[in-house]
Amino acid sequence: MISIVSLAFLIFALHAPSSTAFDMSSSEMSVVYRYGELALRDPASYRNEIVISPRPYSYLLADELPASWDWRNVDGLSYTTPIQNQHIPVYCGSCWSFSAMSSLGDRLNIASNGQHPDIMPAPQVLINCGSAGDCNGGDSGAAYAWIYEAGGIPDTSCQAYEAQNRACTAENICRNCNATFSRLRKGQTCFAVTEYPKIYVEEHGNVTGDAQIMAEIFARGPVVCYIDAGPLEGYTGGVNMYEGAGRTNHAIALVGWGETEDGLKYYVGRNSWGTYWGENGWFRIVRGGLFDAGTCFWAVPSSDFSDYRGVEHSEERMGRRTDFGSRDRVSKWSTEK
Ligand SMILES: *[C@@H]1O[C@H](CO)[C@@H](O)[C@H](O)[C@H]1NC(C)=O
Ligand SMILES: *[C@@H]1O[C@H](CO)[C@@H](O)[C@H](O)[C@H]1NC(C)=O
Repeated sequence: MISIVSLAFLIFALHAPSSTAFDMSSSEMSVVYRYGELALRDPASYRNEIVISPRPYSYLLADELPASWDWRNVDGLSYTTPIQNQHIPVYCGSCWSFSAMSSLGDRLNIASNGQHPDIMPAPQVLINCGSAGDCNGGDSGAAYAWIYEAGGIPDTSCQAYEAQNRACTAENICRNCNATFSRLRKGQTCFAVTEYPKIYVEEHGNVTGDAQIMAEIFARGPVVCYIDAGPLEGYTGGVNMYEGAGRTNHAIALVGWGETEDGLKYYVGRNSWGTYWGENGWFRIVRGGLFDAGTCFWAVPSSDFSDYRGVEHSEERMGRRTDFGSRDRVSKWSTEK
């Protein structure tokens, strides 16, 4: 009898592009199917960071940070994007995309000082074109690198979440539909939109360990980290102790930290499993205990919002890569390894 795990492997193998960051021969591959969450991370896919500004941990020491911090409530203002659900309308292992895009959306709110309405970068565009993964898993750090290289990503009003692997076509980047009426039939036409505002990534990189992670969150906003989804299954609230955790297979966003009255330190995280999971979609997990957040990923969005103010963006701003085109799914970092 074929086991669930080998069946899942088979399904994965059928979908996996060959010789990409998801080469199954990698013994380090973090893939666990048991909980149905797939955040693949191939150590060979390590990529160069793009660092322009000083790293927050270089100027913010751990003991200078507040005992608690939470981007959901900073002096009575929330800077966080809404909880989403990667699993509807059908199951999709796109945690890597949701965690990366929700954190980027938070950072847009932070960059604008809460003076700009929420903008949600489109997770589906990453699935369609990002060369960083799909519904069978992916890599949040690679997602940020792709947005940087591609020269921006549209928001969800360009591309709704479908929870499906789609081809990278113009219509699957930014789309609109209109109604068509004739005497014989009523229908619709969908078409690619070619002029649309984009969200830009100016810098991207990683941080490792609590001191670096906390300085990064505090100075610039939420980060994406990898976790074993197992201990989060069935979580209904409180500080998760991360007991029985194995290898990482899921990506989440860390948006802050705190300490209980009993002195138990925790991180505040956002999941992408709907508001009916955990603490209305959020969770707290032990910090400095069994949960080692390890290496987390960050991206600094452009803070000028000129696309969203209808201001013409300069060629320089668009300089890196302006056409999404159909892009080979083999990512740069995996071919260069
Ligand atoms: C983090 O950045 C460093 C420095 O650029 C790099 O050497 C390392 O491979 C990166 N780690 C990951 C997991 O991408
Ligand atoms: C709908 O969009 C198509 C493609 O852009 C266009 O050719 C057509 O004229 C539009 N129809 C209406 C009714 O706006």
